[in-house]
This record gives sequence, C-alpha cells and structure tokens, in this order.
Amino acid sequence: MKDKLNKIEEEALQAASVITTEVEMQQVRARYLGRKGEITMVMKGMGQLSSEERPLVGALANEVKDRLEEAFDVRQDALRQELMQQNLASERLDVTLPGRKLGRGYKHPITKVTEEIVAIFAALGFGVVEGPEIEKDFYNFEALNIPKDHPARDMQDTFYVSEEVVLRTHTSPVQIRTMLKQKPPLRVIAPGTVYRRDSDVTHSPMFHQIEGFLVDRKVTFGDLKGILTTFITEFFGQNVDVRFRPSFFPFTEPSAEVDIQCVICGGSGCRVCGQTGWLEILGSGMIDPEVFKSVDYDPVVYSGFAFGMGIERIAMLKYGVNDLRLFFENDLRFLKQF
Ligand code: FA5
Ligand code: MG
Repeated sequence: MKDKLNKIEEEALQAASVITTEVEMQQVRARYLGRKGEITMVMKGMGQLSSEERPLVGALANEVKDRLEEAFDVRQDALRQELMQQNLASERLDVTLPGRKLGRGYKHPITKVTEEIVAIFAALGFGVVEGPEIEKDFYNFEALNIPKDHPARDMQDTFYVSEEVVLRTHTSPVQIRTMLKQKPPLRVIAPGTVYRRDSDVTHSPMFHQIEGFLVDRKVTFGDLKGILTTFITEFFGQNVDVRFRPSFFPFTEPSAEVDIQCVICGGSGCRVCGQTGWLEILGSGMIDPEVFKSVDYDPVVYSGFAFGMGIERIAMLKYGVNDLRLFFENDLRFLKQF
C-alpha cells in the first residue's frame, strides 16, 4: 500500500506538470483527490489492513494528499500566470507607435475660385441667392424672352427632363425667381451648377456659373462695365488684358461678352483659345425690358444689368490649366496642386 501511494503521488505530480488548461487541472485534481479519486480509493481499502499498519498507511495517505493539494495549487497558480502572460503578449499594444495618418482634405479648385469671386462681390454689396438645378422651362427660357421656337435655344444644347422641365443651362433663371420675389433695388449674385450638351477643352457638360444682377433707377452700361472691371482687376490683378465684345442674348440689350487674354499662349493663339488669343469668361448686358415685364417691374422706372460668368474658365486662366475637363477627372495628382 505504501508503494502504491508513492506511485500515485509520482503519477499525479507528473500529470499536473504537463497540463495546459484549468479544465485539465480540475480533471487531474478529481482523478487523484476527488471523492472517487485514487487516494480516496486507497483510504477506503484500509479496512483490510492490520491494526498496526492502518495508522501508518493512513498517515502516509494524508501526507500524500496534503502534498498533492499543495503541488496542485502551486501548479494552478503558475498556470494562471502563464495564461495571463500569454494573453498580455497576444493583446499587446505598443502605445508609442505613431498613429495612422488621416489624409487631409482640400477644397476643390472650383470651390476655392467660387468662394473668392463671391467674396469680391459681397464686398461690393451683392447678396447671395440660389436656385434649383432642375428648372422649369418657364424660368430657364420663357421668362428670359426665349420662347419655344426661338433660335436662341440652339445656343445652349439643353438636357430635357420632360417637355416643361430642364437641367438649367445657365444661372439666369435665378434672375427671374429673385425678381418675382423681391422689389428693386436689387444687388444679387447666384452661384451654381449648370448643364449643357457640350464637351471639349473649354466646355464641360456640367459646369458652374455665377450670375450677377443689379436693378435700380438709372443704372447704365457704364455701371456694368465698372463693376465687371473692378471684379476682374481684383481677381486677376492689374496686368490682365480684358476686352468687352458686343454680343447678343435675348434677355439683355445691349449685350457684351468679356474675354481675357489666353494665359496658355500669352495671346499668340493656341488650342485652348481656338487660335484667337482670347478666352471668353462671361456674358452680360442691360436687362431687356421684356424680362422686366415678365416679373412685373416697370421698365420705364427701373433699369439694370446682368452677367453670367463661367467659373471653370476663370479657374483655367487663374491657374494656367489647359483643359477644363481636368477639373472633373478627380485625379488627386492634379487636384493637390491648388
Ligand atoms: C450665358 O449662359 C448667359 N446666361 C450669360 C448672361 C447672363 C448673359 C446674364 C447676359 C446676362 P453663355 O452661354 O455665353 O451665356 O455662358 C456664359 C459663360 O459660361 C461663358 O462665357 C463661359 O465662360 C461659360 N461656359 C459656357 N458653356 C460652358 C461649358 N460647356 N463649360 C464650361 N464653361 C462654359
Ligand atoms: Mg457665350
């Protein structure tokens, strides 16, 4: 029996030394120290021993039991430590590592130029309004003195949503919407997105305009020229070459378009300016009495001017970009330069 107890102890210690989980530890404990465990079984068999042997074996069994209990506790503690270290190692965070960098955003060059233009006009006393991009034929054409069969509709290739609804081809419908709501005097600019069936180095099917208009008593063409010249020199500086060129719009009379000398070729003629040396940035004119009639302003009392400028064209000239469509290709190598 003594030999057997010694052997059990040896086995139990061996078993405890190779376990790797707490569950295994519990199993080993139950196998040796449990109510049906090996030591208990030995103790139960002690009845057959002689009265001299019984206390000796009993004492030894208790000693073995105590030693195993202690050994198991030690092993269990060690195991917990090991598992904790493993967890700590696998979940280790190096708080000294540099963080992941978030790419910094930039304003799109068209947004920047729009904001600059708006700021210049705001300083001249113009307030900002907006209008819808999906527009009624009435505001985009009809009220601007462009009836259905008017040849001027061909000047702007239109995206039709339905017979009566279009993607606005210019920001001029905002003139009508504003004048129907407000009475003169008015000093307003309206930036926004417009759409036309157009695409080449200086035309994009989606582009941006800023409409501007001023209505009051005794407004003259000189006022129009003064405001636009002030704007151009504020924006481009004194050295830029500008020309006012007579033109035609159904909603202004007289009308002028403004060209700026092509910065790509310096005026000698290239692909961007169509060999003319000039790039058109805006259309303008004195608001036609017919337009005043459609918004119920008295053309005898009031006069006014209006203009609509192409923001991409202005951005091209400012930054020397030789293809307007580059602004919309979303190539970060291009966009990051601004
Ligand atoms: C107009 O759109 C008139 N509504 C402007 C106006 C307003 C005249 C108020 C009188 C009074 P136009 O079609 O010329 O005019 O366009 C104005 C400007 O938009 C052009 O000078 C040009 O700079 C720009 N533009 C025209 N088409 C495109 C296009 N497809 N892509 C980029 N810019 C364009
Ligand atoms: Mg034009």
